[in-house]
Amino acid sequence: MFAHLTPLPADPILGLSALSKADTNPKKVDLGVGVYKDDNGKTVILGAVQAAYEHMVETEGSKVYIPPVGWPGFTDACQELVFGEAMKADLAPHMAAIQTPGGCGALRLGFDLVHQAAPETTVWVSNPTWANHVPTLQAAGLSHKVYDYYDRENSTVDVDAMLASLEGAKAGDLVLLHACCHNPTGADLPADAWGSIIELMTKKGLVPFLDMAYQGFAAGLSEDAAGVRQVFEAMPEAVLSYSCSKNFGLYRERTGCLMVKGSQKDATAALTTNLAKIARTNYSMPPAHGAALVTTIMQNEALKQDWMDELAAMRKRINSLRASFVNALSPYGLDNRFGAVAGQTGMFSLLNLTPEQVQQLRAERSIYFPDNGRINVAGMTEANIPYLAESLSSLF
Ligand SMILES: Cc1ncc(COP(=O)(O)O)c(C=O)c1O
Repeated sequence: MFAHLTPLPADPILGLSALSKADTNPKKVDLGVGVYKDDNGKTVILGAVQAAYEHMVETEGSKVYIPPVGWPGFTDACQELVFGEAMKADLAPHMAAIQTPGGCGALRLGFDLVHQAAPETTVWVSNPTWANHVPTLQAAGLSHKVYDYYDRENSTVDVDAMLASLEGAKAGDLVLLHACCHNPTGADLPADAWGSIIELMTKKGLVPFLDMAYQGFAAGLSEDAAGVRQVFEAMPEAVLSYSCSKNFGLYRERTGCLMVKGSQKDATAALTTNLAKIARTNYSMPPAHGAALVTTIMQNEALKQDWMDELAAMRKRINSLRASFVNALSPYGLDNRFGAVAGQTGMFSLLNLTPEQVQQLRAERSIYFPDNGRINVAGMTEANIPYLAESLSSLF
């Protein structure tokens, strides 16, 4: 049965990580893997998470299964973060929310539901998009098309080109949108573009699927949800995959949530039971630990404040690294070429470099990021930025 299987190529980003680990150059810089790092290059456990963990050790008492929809209170907490209390209450009769194994689990469950409801659905994804989007929707049996998004020359979003490509979509197609902190470009939709996209989706009968993996990393918790809120307000049907991996630093605990808005009266029961049934034949019940930590934090005002402060500190650090990076490039006359990095959001930006230039930086300077030019800004430190700037200047 398995004899014909051959080894697959290593995941390019994980492969890079191994190369970087093995590199003994003391000046090496790893801007590859997409996890937040502090000034010491460490991905630490947040203080609020540690406190919730200690509380849990004292109180948990059982490892019995949790319900298929997840840890009690968890999906409410996620919906409150995304929509705020008032909008969450307004949406309630139309909403289903289920805990998932991370944002990836939410994406897969969402695509599975779409496939079950309408197997011929085409999913439109941005050019470029996160490397796992297309494989995940394909694994669920869906097909995809690509809409124009990033203008690489100018390092901005080309909204007109995006709208023009989506004119080619047909009623019932799904439009996958990044809620904030677009991965890999760091270039988000301008605030006033959401209205035009909603108008077009309404006119053509398209269904939005938002992927939200970085709430709080761009401008703030509610600021980052502004586009999502407009979409869920305006559209009769909408899907949202949510990840707590980055904003709670819970990566390995696989903590996420899928939210689906249905148009029918009392949509909740139909959507929830269908989602639970799909989950049952896949992973059955979600893991408890990360969701219990998030719920504990969100239900305790002091812990919640601590968490929001820690999230703000991560956001501010990334934004100040972005500014320092562009400042450091200015003596080399490169601040124009890479200036957009300062105004982009989240952990990633896409440097306008050829794969050969990226490989040159890797070979000659021990600077690691994938060939498409995506850098994880959180891998920078005030100490390594001068070296990064000087190394980039050596390419031109
Ligand atoms: C755009 C995007 N969506 C979803 C995810 C899923 O995150 P996880 O499954 O780790 O929660 C990520 C993680 O890198 C991401 O960048």
